[in-house]
Amino acid sequence: MRRPFVAGNWKMNTTLAGGQQLAAAIAAEVGSSTTVDVAVCPPFPYLTAVKQSLGSSSVGLGAQNAYFAKSGAFTGEVAVGMLKEIGCNWVVLGHSERRQFFGDTDELINKKINAVLAEELGVIFCVGELLAERQSNQTEAVLDKQLTGGLAGIDAAHMAKIVIAYEPVWAIGTGVTASPAQAESAHLFIRQWLAKRYNQGVADGVRIQYGGSVKADNAQELLSQPNVDGALVGGASLTAEQFLPIIRAAVQVAGSK
Ligand code: PGA
Repeated sequence: MRRPFVAGNWKMNTTLAGGQQLAAAIAAEVGSSTTVDVAVCPPFPYLTAVKQSLGSSSVGLGAQNAYFAKSGAFTGEVAVGMLKEIGCNWVVLGHSERRQFFGDTDELINKKINAVLAEELGVIFCVGELLAERQSNQTEAVLDKQLTGGLAGIDAAHMAKIVIAYEPVWAIGTGVTASPAQAESAHLFIRQWLAKRYNQGVADGVRIQYGGSVKADNAQELLSQPNVDGALVGGASLTAEQFLPIIRAAVQVAGSK
């Protein structure tokens, strides 16, 4: 039984005060719940303050990126050790916006994943195809390439610290969600890939989140799919009104799957 994991990717949004309020509202909802995992991923400058707002709740704290070097002359970058020091539990890597706008290649993502694992934090590793790739039946080939590159050299033992987020690029921020069947089919492909690359135990244990226009009104159906183990939520994670119902849907699913 995989525990559902709902994470809010705030991207480059919120203010300090707004982020703190949002975090406090999520913490109040989640409390010390252990039936679902919930995390928020605020912009770097707000991480410490948001951590405080999360208080003693079980809500995890994630960063949206990190660099692989431990320290040094890398202007503008943030080391994983720094994120660990301020209480981060997770780092999102391989997000399509990083791949698209900031040149994160499979090879760079692999180095970053290794750096996060070396500090024993969790990784939310994003993969997903472009619309043109889906339309030309390349979805599975793209997922295979991204998984192969991103997880190169990473052994089975470390997979316990990795969550995979399947995020079809055409569904991110567009309001167009993958249908539950489309999501399930991609998630099943990823799980079978994990079984082949590692073993059935790893495949059964790794959580695979769906991301791409997850909203309160579609969360339940997506999360109910057998191989969908949670959600990585962008736009709808920015207000408590929209995000809390998604958490509630995960709680409900956790009790019924
Ligand atoms: P969205 O973003 O929910 O706004 O589509 C998801 C993501 O990019 O993680």
